Amino acid sequence: MCGIVGYIGDKDACKVIVEGLKRLEYRGYDSAGIALLREKHIDVTKTPGKVSKLEKMVSGLRPAKIGIGHTRWATHGEPNTVNAHPHTDCSGNIAIIHNGIIENHSSLKTKLTSLGHTFKSQTDTEVLAHLIEEFYSRTENLEMAVRLALKDVNGTFGIVVLSAAEPDVLVAARRGSPLLIGLGDSENLIASDASALIRHTRDVIYMHDNEIAVITRTNVSLKNLDDEAVEREAEHLTFDLEQIEKGGFAHFMLKEINEQPETVLNAFRGRLIDDEGVSKMGGLREVEEKIVNARRFVILACGTSWHAALVGKYILEQYAQIPVEVDYASEFRYRNPVLVEGDVVWAISQSGETLDTLAALREARQRGVPVYGIVNVVGSTIARETDAGVYIHAGPEIGVASTKAFTSQLAVLNLINLLVARRRKTITAEQGKEIVEEMHRLPGKIRQILDNTAQIEAIAEEFKESRNFLYLGRGVNFPVALEGALKLKEISYIHAEGYPAAEMKHGPIALIDENMPAVFIALRDSTYDKILSNIQEVRARKGNVIVIANEADGRLKELAEHIIEIPETLEILSPILSVIPLQLLSYYMAVKRGCNVDQPRNLAKSVTVE
Ligand code: F6R
Repeated sequence: MCGIVGYIGDKDACKVIVEGLKRLEYRGYDSAGIALLREKHIDVTKTPGKVSKLEKMVSGLRPAKIGIGHTRWATHGEPNTVNAHPHTDCSGNIAIIHNGIIENHSSLKTKLTSLGHTFKSQTDTEVLAHLIEEFYSRTENLEMAVRLALKDVNGTFGIVVLSAAEPDVLVAARRGSPLLIGLGDSENLIASDASALIRHTRDVIYMHDNEIAVITRTNVSLKNLDDEAVEREAEHLTFDLEQIEKGGFAHFMLKEINEQPETVLNAFRGRLIDDEGVSKMGGLREVEEKIVNARRFVILACGTSWHAALVGKYILEQYAQIPVEVDYASEFRYRNPVLVEGDVVWAISQSGETLDTLAALREARQRGVPVYGIVNVVGSTIARETDAGVYIHAGPEIGVASTKAFTSQLAVLNLINLLVARRRKTITAEQGKEIVEEMHRLPGKIRQILDNTAQIEAIAEEFKESRNFLYLGRGVNFPVALEGALKLKEISYIHAEGYPAAEMKHGPIALIDENMPAVFIALRDSTYDKILSNIQEVRARKGNVIVIANEADGRLKELAEHIIEIPETLEILSPILSVIPLQLLSYYMAVKRGCNVDQPRNLAKSVTVE
């Protein structure tokens, strides 16, 4: 989720690029950089922090007619100056900007190092600069060198490359990360999204996967990576800037909900070993023994991340058979928590900056136990202060209500479960393979839910005036009930409570009447029969029932009017699907009630105060 801009033409490239990067900052903003080519020499300026800082550094530079710039959302290596893009080869004659993840970067780095290349950064991107350098020395043609280099690469990329030896061309290529070319009058641009181009042109060519573009001031030639020409008509953009930044969605929250097929895929990317039925996570490699041999896990988090932790407890105890305690970070830090040798503490945080989680992990470290992170923002304080960790790779989450980070946290907790369970031999290789296969199917199943939202919108319309809601689930879907209730409270300001469905009889059942909708998660899993009885108990008291169920559930059809169907999956993975209709329900309720979805009252995206 980085922002990319390239320019060639008669204007001051630096100004055009910096202005474009500012428009892309919502895609990532932890560092920024620019490479400008003048008289066969490339000058690179980079800085941690926002584009405005870069802007100050480059103001007053001599104008250039060609250049590339980048605003970064770190995935590998912390956000400092060396890790900022553009990256250069050994000679400084090739510069590259990249959005995506190069999965085989470590093996490529080893190979390139043995060929004499020296690396400056910890990023996956830098290997591309050296790989292109390697092929450039043989071909002396930038387009060909890029094409040959990309044949060796696994992963995703949107790249733009500049060579001092070819000062009149930009070479771009894409696989899995968006890129579009803006067609101007004696100038052309390229960017990761249209908001960076629209001030200069509305005529664009969208690049497709496995395509390479050679862009000069007056010409654009498009080919596939097999060197065959591709013909594509330009499109004329008519939408406004705000719409573009939100990818055409009305709100960032809806955009982020819709990104989940991709973000869950990104959490799994490069971490599944299909034929062994196990997972691998680079960030945990060195501490794997400690994790596998731990006597207990203690997971610390707040809010939505705490709900993810609770799901983790169900999964890890069931499969890896490891005792798991989940604690609110804010409670843990003010108790006198007992941590003993053999305990492993995990801190889960989207932002990596939540003060309570940070303070709790510091408390745990002081007591001498290892602390590992499950974090989204690379280089954040929690990421830096933990002994090791896994990034969830969900990209920037801008909507205040967390959505895609939650499903990516669940994806990573499942990866950890798979690793520990296989290594502790609490599941067989066959069971591991079954989990891996189902993990591969999840993005498609999420897409299926997202393609059928009309019914959820209609339910929101029917219940938008309700004053209270109850969310009920059992087992691994009990924390999802908590998460559904939290989402509704946060953005639509309707009071909602989440409960384990059986616990309802111990009090909340007193609240049930025809004005109290109850949302059940009732999937065909180990708790199915029990939860059906709980639904009957609510129905008997005239409660309105909305059920998240598996497809074609005849028994439920007799019990409930509102059934939102989701595809079947393994029980341990089911929260990744069952939460999505609940995110959408809260979203549509909030919109219909006229609430500010992306910035709900009284809330902040990351809580850095006590
Ligand atoms: C809810 C929400 C919050 C966060 C909580 C922890 O939608 O966003 O409850 O989950 O503030 O934040 P992180 O995960 O950044 O530590």
